[in-house]
Amino acid sequence: MNAIMKSFQEVLQNAKNVLILTGSGVSAESGIPTFRGAGGFWRKYQAQNLATPEAFATNPSLVWEFYEYRRRVANEAKPNKAHEAIANFQNRGAKESRNVTIVTQNIDELHQRAGAKDIVELHGSLYKTRCTVCHDVAINTNIPICPALEGKGSPDSNIMISDIPKDDLPRCQKENCKGLLRPHIVWFGESLDEHVLEQAYDAVENCDACLIIGTSSIVYPAAMFAPQAAKRGVPVAEFNLEITPATRNFAYHFEGPCTVTVAEALES
Ligand SMILES: NC(=O)c1ccc[n+]([C@@H]2O[C@H](COP(=O)([O-])OP(=O)(O)OC[C@H]3O[C@@H](n4cnc5c(N)ncnc54)[C@H](O)[C@@H]3O)[C@@H](O)[C@H]2O)c1
Ligand SMILES: [Zn+2]
Repeated sequence: MNAIMKSFQEVLQNAKNVLILTGSGVSAESGIPTFRGAGGFWRKYQAQNLATPEAFATNPSLVWEFYEYRRRVANEAKPNKAHEAIANFQNRGAKESRNVTIVTQNIDELHQRAGAKDIVELHGSLYKTRCTVCHDVAINTNIPICPALEGKGSPDSNIMISDIPKDDLPRCQKENCKGLLRPHIVWFGESLDEHVLEQAYDAVENCDACLIIGTSSIVYPAAMFAPQAAKRGVPVAEFNLEITPATRNFAYHFEGPCTVTVAEALES
């Protein structure tokens, strides 16, 4: 093993509060496309243009088809070696008096499915809905999420029209409400939940070692967490396929697929 990796492992061995920040790159090898890679398109749309409140207001049927597709893809995906290494490291930490906090930008729940606990989900989850009328948040893992979305959501770029009537889209189950549901996801242009953000800031302020895995460090505020920790002198290790705008802030940069690099850092 190379000396730099060894040096980071020593950091981890002595750390009491480890912060692990993850982005869509950690799930890429599970077959879930990142937004900035080649898989960032659905039909003729750029994924980022559908993950907005404007898109939902204009065409909730189209946005629900997009999320029906994403729920299905994530459901069929399996946690990979990086998710597993992270979960094992967290569980081991409990026995070695090391606290490991996982803060993710992902909405796919693969960390949880690998056995990790108390995930701080910055951007919500594909498997939660929120009522646009009463704001009730509910867990929903049904596929399809409602009968009208059965067989819908194909990414085929020849499909142009999505015209499911609003009444047939997912509706609130609370008595007398029946409001239109939306995915409980922080869309582009929306603010993060304050309580969730507080948990993330706490972890950033209290960590003595930090890993940032598979994130482009472009989407704020998540992009500033690891640089903030680095500024306090915390050793931060970045795991990515490439250099990112934040790389120069970090003590360590491990380039390559995270199923290899993260597994090596956390498991050997
Ligand atoms: N899996 C998901 O839940 C999912 C998928 C797509 C987008 N999103 C959302 O989109 C936003 C995009 O931000 P982001 O920074 O997470 O993703 P991003 O798409 O902007 O960047 C992904 C980063 O991961 C790196 N990467 C790709 N494959 C990798 C691998 N195998 N190993 C290591 N690194 C790899 C890329 O080089 C890139 O820097 C987030 O807000 C997130 O909520 C989530
Ligand atoms: Zn409601």
